[in-house]
Amino acid sequence: MKRTFEPVSVLVMLALTAIAVGAGLWWHQRSADADNPYAHLGGDFTLTSASGPVSLSDFQGQVVMLYFGFTSCPDVCPTDLARMSAVISGLTTAEAAQVAGVFVTVDPERDTPERASEYARFFSPYIIGLSGTPQEIEAVARQYYVIYNRIKYAGSALGYTIDHTATTYLIDARGVIRDRLQHDASVDEVRRAVRNLIPG
Ligand code: NI
Repeated sequence: MKRTFEPVSVLVMLALTAIAVGAGLWWHQRSADADNPYAHLGGDFTLTSASGPVSLSDFQGQVVMLYFGFTSCPDVCPTDLARMSAVISGLTTAEAAQVAGVFVTVDPERDTPERASEYARFFSPYIIGLSGTPQEIEAVARQYYVIYNRIKYAGSALGYTIDHTATTYLIDARGVIRDRLQHDASVDEVRRAVRNLIPG
């Protein structure tokens, strides 16, 4: 549970993500929509929170920051969710009402909907944590070109850790992906990008 494996795995992850998203974008760009290269990625999905089913389309009218991770993640997920929380805290009340955070676990076997929701709430009451069956999670990850791999990890009491894409997707009020922010983006950068998408 130390930082010993994360820097390397994060680099591997970023490289894999770049390749996967690059391939995805190349493919999709061939089929038009030059204005928004992300228009054909993503889309609606339904997973489960502690209080029942939640769909991305429930957030129509709001800007959504969508992130995939897992609750036992030693430091990448906590950093990115803390940033998400800071982004929301820095908004005006009126702006914050039009923004939501969504955390989707890629570790559905350990992260129940209750655990995912509790974890997200720990960072901010405006972030919702979701889980589902392994098949459901796999389908959503595929929609968003999110890669995650279970890695045996002797240093962890849990026996395995998960390498995963550390991308924050910015989704506009109509449910369309408009931007992808990386792990190294600052709070200010993310907040600026979010503000740009707030309707009105
Ligand atoms: Ni993580």
